[in-house]
Amino acid sequence: MGYRVSSIIARRRHPAAGYAAIAGGLVLAGALYGALAGGPASAAPGQSSASPANGRSLFIQSCATCHGINAQGTSQAPSLIGAGAAAVDFQMSTGRMPAKEPGAENTRKPVTFSPQQIADIAAWIQSLGGGPTIPDATQVSTSGADTALGEELFSTNCAQCHNAGGSGGALTYGKSAPSLVASTPTQIYEAMVTGPEAMPVFGDGTITPDEKRAIIAYITQTRTEANPGGFSLGRTGTVTEGIVAWLAGLGFLVLIAMWLTAKRKDMRIGGEGS
Ligand code: HEC
Ligand code: HEC
Repeated sequence: MGYRVSSIIARRRHPAAGYAAIAGGLVLAGALYGALAGGPASAAPGQSSASPANGRSLFIQSCATCHGINAQGTSQAPSLIGAGAAAVDFQMSTGRMPAKEPGAENTRKPVTFSPQQIADIAAWIQSLGGGPTIPDATQVSTSGADTALGEELFSTNCAQCHNAGGSGGALTYGKSAPSLVASTPTQIYEAMVTGPEAMPVFGDGTITPDEKRAIIAYITQTRTEANPGGFSLGRTGTVTEGIVAWLAGLGFLVLIAMWLTAKRKDMRIGGEGS
C-alpha cells in the first residue's frame, strides 16, 4: 500500500514542487504584507522631503490671486507671512483652501492636493516668516494621555463654541463652529495653534503640550463612543494585528506542509526499498 500511494504522489508531483509552491506563497504573502503595511504610513505629510521651491510655484498657480504673489495679502485674503506651515496644512488638509468663492472658506471640502503638494506649500510659507509648525507624531500621540483632564479642558475652553460632544454649534454673531467629527489629531492640534477664523489661538502658554494631547484624546474618544460603527484612527492597529495573526497562521500551515512533504519522501524511500 505504501508503494502505491507514494508512486502516485511521486508521479503527480515532484517533491521539489512542494517547496517551490511554499516559497512562492511566502514571497506573495511578503509582498501583500508590504503593500498593506506600507500604505497608511506613507500618507503622512513628509516634512523632511518638502520642496519650498515647488511649493512657491504651486502657490502662484492656486493661491496668489487671493493671497498675493508673495503671500503678502490682498483686499481678498489675509497675508500668510508668519501664518506657519501648521496653518497651511490645516487649511489645505481639511479642503478649506484653496477657497473657491468668497464665503466658502470656513467649511470642509474635498481635498484636491496631494499630501506632498501640501507639504511643499507649507514649507514655502514657513520659510517666509516662521510661525507654528506641523506637529510631529509625539505631539499628537494619545497614548497615555489624560482623557479626564481632556474633558475638563474641553468644557472650559472649547465647548462654548463646539458644544459638549464636539458636535458643533451656532456662534452668537450668526457664524457657527464646525463639528469635530472628521478632525484628525493633527488637525485638532493645528486648529489650536493657528486659531482659524473666529477661533482663538491656544498657544503652549495657555494649553500646555500635554494638555493638548489630553484634549485630542478626549475628542477622538468621545467620537468613537458616539459613533461605534464609524471610522476611527485606532483601526490601523487592528488591521496590523490582523495581518500578524494571519501571518502566524500561515507560518503554522507552512510547517505542516513541510512536515507532510518530508513524510511522503520517507514513505517513498520505504516503499521502494521493500
Ligand atoms: C478665493 C480666494 C482664496 C484662494 C484662492 C485661497 N485663499 Fe486662503 N484664504 C482666503 C480667505 C478669504 C481667508 C481668510 C478666511 C478666514 O479668516 O477664515 C484665507 C485664509 C487662509 C489661511 C489662514 C490664515 C491664518 O492666518 O490662519 C491660510 C493658511 C490660507 N488661506 C492658505 C491658502 C493656500 C495655501 C491657498 C492655495 C492653495 C489659498 N489659501 C487659496 C481666500 C483664498
Ligand atoms: C470662539 C469659538 C471657538 C472656540 C472657543 C474654539 N473653537 Fe474651534 N473652531 C471655531 C470656528 C469658528 C472654527 C471654524 C474655523 C474655520 O472654518 O475657518 C473652528 C474650527 C475648529 C477645528 C477644525 C474642525 C474641522 O473642520 O476639522 C477644530 C479641530 C477645532 N476648532 C478645535 C477646537 C478646540 C480643541 C478648542 C478648544 C481648545 C476650540 N476649537 C475652541 C470656533 C471656536
